[in-house]
This record gives sequence, C-alpha cells and structure tokens, in this order.
Amino acid sequence: MSPNEIRAKYLKFFEERGHTVIPSASLVPENDPTTLFTGSGMQPLVPYLLGKDHPMGKRLVDSQKSFRAGDIEEVGDNRHTTFFEMLGNWSLGDYFKKEQLGWYFEFLTAELGIPKERLWVTCFEGEEKFDIPKDTESAEIWKSLGIGEERIRYYGSNKNWWSRAGAPEEMPAGEPGGPDSETFYEFEEVEHDPKYGAACHPNCDCGRFMEIGNSVFMQYIKQQDGSFALLPKQNVDFGGGLERITAAANNASDVFPVAHAPIISYLEKVSGKKYLEVSPLDIRAFRIIADHMKAAVFLIGDGVRPSNTERGYFVRRLIRRGVLYADRLGITENTFSGIVGAVADMYKEQYPELTAQGVEIAQVIAQEEERFRKTLERGVKELARFAGGGELSAQDAFQLFTTYGFPLELIIEEAGARGIKQVDVEGFKELLKQHQNLSRAGSEQKFKGGLADTSEKTTRLHTAHHLLLKALQFVLGAHVKQRGSNITQERLRIDFSHGEKMTKEQIELVEHIVNEKIHENLPVIRTEIAREDAEKLGAEHEFGAKYPDKVSVYSIGPEGADIAAPEFEKAYSIEFCGGPHVTNTGELAKSGVFKIQKEEAVSAGVRRIKAVLQ
Ligand code: ALA
Repeated sequence: MSPNEIRAKYLKFFEERGHTVIPSASLVPENDPTTLFTGSGMQPLVPYLLGKDHPMGKRLVDSQKSFRAGDIEEVGDNRHTTFFEMLGNWSLGDYFKKEQLGWYFEFLTAELGIPKERLWVTCFEGEEKFDIPKDTESAEIWKSLGIGEERIRYYGSNKNWWSRAGAPEEMPAGEPGGPDSETFYEFEEVEHDPKYGAACHPNCDCGRFMEIGNSVFMQYIKQQDGSFALLPKQNVDFGGGLERITAAANNASDVFPVAHAPIISYLEKVSGKKYLEVSPLDIRAFRIIADHMKAAVFLIGDGVRPSNTERGYFVRRLIRRGVLYADRLGITENTFSGIVGAVADMYKEQYPELTAQGVEIAQVIAQEEERFRKTLERGVKELARFAGGGELSAQDAFQLFTTYGFPLELIIEEAGARGIKQVDVEGFKELLKQHQNLSRAGSEQKFKGGLADTSEKTTRLHTAHHLLLKALQFVLGAHVKQRGSNITQERLRIDFSHGEKMTKEQIELVEHIVNEKIHENLPVIRTEIAREDAEKLGAEHEFGAKYPDKVSVYSIGPEGADIAAPEFEKAYSIEFCGGPHVTNTGELAKSGVFKIQKEEAVSAGVRRIKAVLQ
C-alpha cells in the first residue's frame, strides 16, 4: 500500500463518519507569529480549538504538509524526517475519546489490515501539580477494543501531553493543550538495542517501536495565573505521520523505501550505489538527502527561498546538508535539480502546484547547490590545513561548522578519512552551546543573530565590533567591558558597561578611531592558546561567559603583532573569539565607512550602541 492510497483511504474513512475534508495549509503559517513553519495539522486550526466556530463544521479531516526544523539532526535513522504529511482529524467540541480511539483503531486494523497484536498504546499519567487526572478512561477504551493490558503504558507530561509549546510548564497563558494517547507499531523483527536502555518499551528509541498516531484530547487552556481551566469545547486533535503509517501498513521498519522511493532510485542512479547494499553510514546519507531534498522542494514550492535569515536559512541548511551527504556518496556534480521531478511526480495529485512550479523550484535548487559546492571545496581544503597536526581543535571544527556549514558528524567522518586521529568533540559541543545561547539571546532576530549568519557583510561587521570595543576603551576608559552583542548583515550591536550617556565628541572620536584602523589595513590573526594564557595577555572576553580550556583568540595589529610573535604588545585589539573574521581590516572599507547610529541605555550601568558600515 502506497502513501497515496493510504491518504485517500483515511480521508474517505473519516468523510464517511461525518467529517469535512479540508485542504492542506501552506508550510508558511499565515498570521501566526509564534512559529516559522507549519509543523502539525492543528496549527492552522488554533482559533477553532479555542472555541471559534469553523465554517466547515465540527468534524474535520485533512492531510497537512508539515515541516519540523527541530528534527533536522535526528534524520538518518529509520523513521525521522523533517518533512512529512500529517493525517489529521478533529472534533471541535463534538465526539470525544470513545469515538476517536475506536475509529483510529478500526482504521488501522480493518482498513489497513494491521494486526492488533502489533499495536501498543500510551496514556497520560496525570500531573498533580496542575490538578490534571490520570487518563484511565482512554486505557479502558483501548482494553475494550482488544489491546492487552500489558501493551498499555502510562507516561508523564514529557511524553503524553501535547501543546504547541510542549509540557504544561512550558505553555504560555492562552495556549490550548491536553493529555494524549499515542499509538505505536512494534517491528518484531527489529532486535532491541541495549544501547538505548536495558528493556525496550514504546518510547524507546532503538527502532523496534514507531509512533504512528497521536490522539490529543485538547481540553485545557493555560490561565494567566499558571493554572489550567477547561476550554469551552472539549476537542479531539488527532495527528499521524502518513509516511510512518505507510511503513507500519507494509511492516517495513524503514520509512524511506516506502515514502521516498523515487528519490532513493534517483540517488541510486546518479551515485551508482544501491541503497540496501551500502554501509550504514551511506544508508544514513541516502536518508538525509532524500528527506532534506523533499523538504526543500516543498518549502520552495510554498515560496521560501534560500537565504541567511529566518525560513530561508532552513532551506539553505537543508540543501547544504544534502550536498555534503551527496558528496559522501560520491555524487560530486550538481545533481539535485533532478530530484524535483521525482518529488513532483510522487505528489502530482495531492499537490499539483509542485509540478506547476517544477522548473522554478529546480532553478532555485540548482543555483544554491552550485554556490555551496564551491564553498565546500574551500572548506575541505581548510579542513586539511587545520588538520596538519593530526588533531582537530574545537575551534577549528567550529569554524568549519559556522563558515562552511559542516555538521559535526561530517567533520568527524572527514577527519577520520584524512588520518586525523582526534577531534575535540566535547570542546566543539561547548562552543556550540555558547553559540546557541548567543543565538537565543538575539532571538528577537530569530536566526539573524549570533554566528548563524556568516555572510561577508556580517563578517566585516564582526571585525568592526572588535575595533569598536577597543576604541570605546580608549575613549571612555578601561572599565568598558562587553556585556552582549548581536550582529546581522545590516548592523552590529554591542552592550557594554559604562555609566553615562556618551557625548557627541566621544561618539565622533570612537568613529574616527575605528575608521583609522580600517584604513591602516591591519592584519586580523587567529591563534589558539590555553585559556589561562589568553587571560594573562588580557584578551577581551564577554563578562560571565564560559570558555573551554583552549581558546581561539583574534588579534588585530600591525604586521608581526599577533600574540604568537614577540611583538604582540603592539596589537591594537586581542579578543577571545570563535570568528569568523576578515583577514585584513582594509576589507571593511568595501562595505563603507563606520558610523554609530544610536547610543542608548539598556539598564543601569550598561549602554548599547548600534553601528553600521555604509
Ligand atoms: N497535534 C498533535 C501532534 O502534532 C496531534 O502530535
């Protein structure tokens, strides 16, 4: 049974039970500032779950295109994908647990022929803190349907509670949510892997169990005071991954051959390798490319274009990761535009817009692939250079990650292939954590902030940021310390300790110093040293930030004034920093003249400057 057949059966099954079929909404949510992408069928229905009347009635069914950016790193096993279709049915204050669980069970067993002995279910354990009871009612219904007691498990709110924000604690006031009951398919032929724990169970990640549906009893709303109240309507929000349900219906523990078959065939053709005959690492590569390229085709089809910000950043990341893994499979030529036809063809009936826009989608993909292949070539050379000593430091690995978009697992694999014995994985993870904190700190910019964007313009502003900090210390005094920063392609922002408003003269003097350093064409040099040594040298670092034992330091100064040289004291600026930076301050002039646009207070004793190169 194919995904197309199962989708059609599902819509018909619920239509026969009084549901109206509604079309899939776009992957780009409308009027929903809380999220970048549509990641579940309920998102476009939130106003109706909160109580508004839906024009199509109280029973709805659909198949919703969904993209979960947060799962990107999970892709590669037998079941995780970033893009999937979510089969969904809703009761807006109409039927409840008995009908929902009964119908879903009937659909799986009678319509799809799944033996009930393969099914396990989970129910909500209850949450005393919020006075939400244990869901024994669902468990009783499952028992009456013929699910043995031994295959019914209870879990807490991290597993069996659903809201857009997650567990009850995480939910903002006004958010709807509720306990849920998940259904799992057991692949008896998959042996439990003890790496995931002594005993296997439905929520174990070893691959023996696969979640194939989630019935959410959307009953509650979080109140301003943090407690929960019942919604005006008791709703059902069901979602089940079409690709996974198809895998279960075929008793196939791997979703890719059932849900990505034409893409896998295409990759087999261009790589000359057979999916089922390659090493586990290559199987992973096939899966990652198949998922990422399908997702990219759908996102571009919904109007997203690769870029360094917001949604476009994810499309860029998907295509780039796809290229990296294609490279692993030996596909070194531009090839991805050929996948567009395979995807459009799979979905020609459900999503004819992909066929209609096929040529344009292929162009966008081809252009991005071509650009990235050039960057990749430079990145691999850089890796070989970094790896001269047989070890790859956390900072070098991190630079490959930020500048060239190499994911960690690829860095490790490439390093292995180049005879590098050691990669500082722990150090890398530490840097990644700092980087993520930085990105979160700038989250009003979503993904614009921090180091997520390593474009030329941002990199220049990053170097300008170092020049500026030093100039502020010259003009205002040594008490000036960095308290925060955020850099986008358009401007830099620095928060620093200083008690009063800067005068016009001080601002002009700071601008003058920075521009002077730009015109002096000073080399920007990166050195890696022990944290202690860097501290002794007085290298600037952000107040309160945690750094690993070995740090990367950038110095800006006249030739020979980097810290590795005896004349380092002539350096103008020395900072702890993971980069990236320009190699010479003269490059900043290509963006323009340094100018402070705003100087203002952030909190007591902390000022903020926004500045540009224009
Ligand atoms: N909204 C529920 C989910 O996404 C069905 O799992």
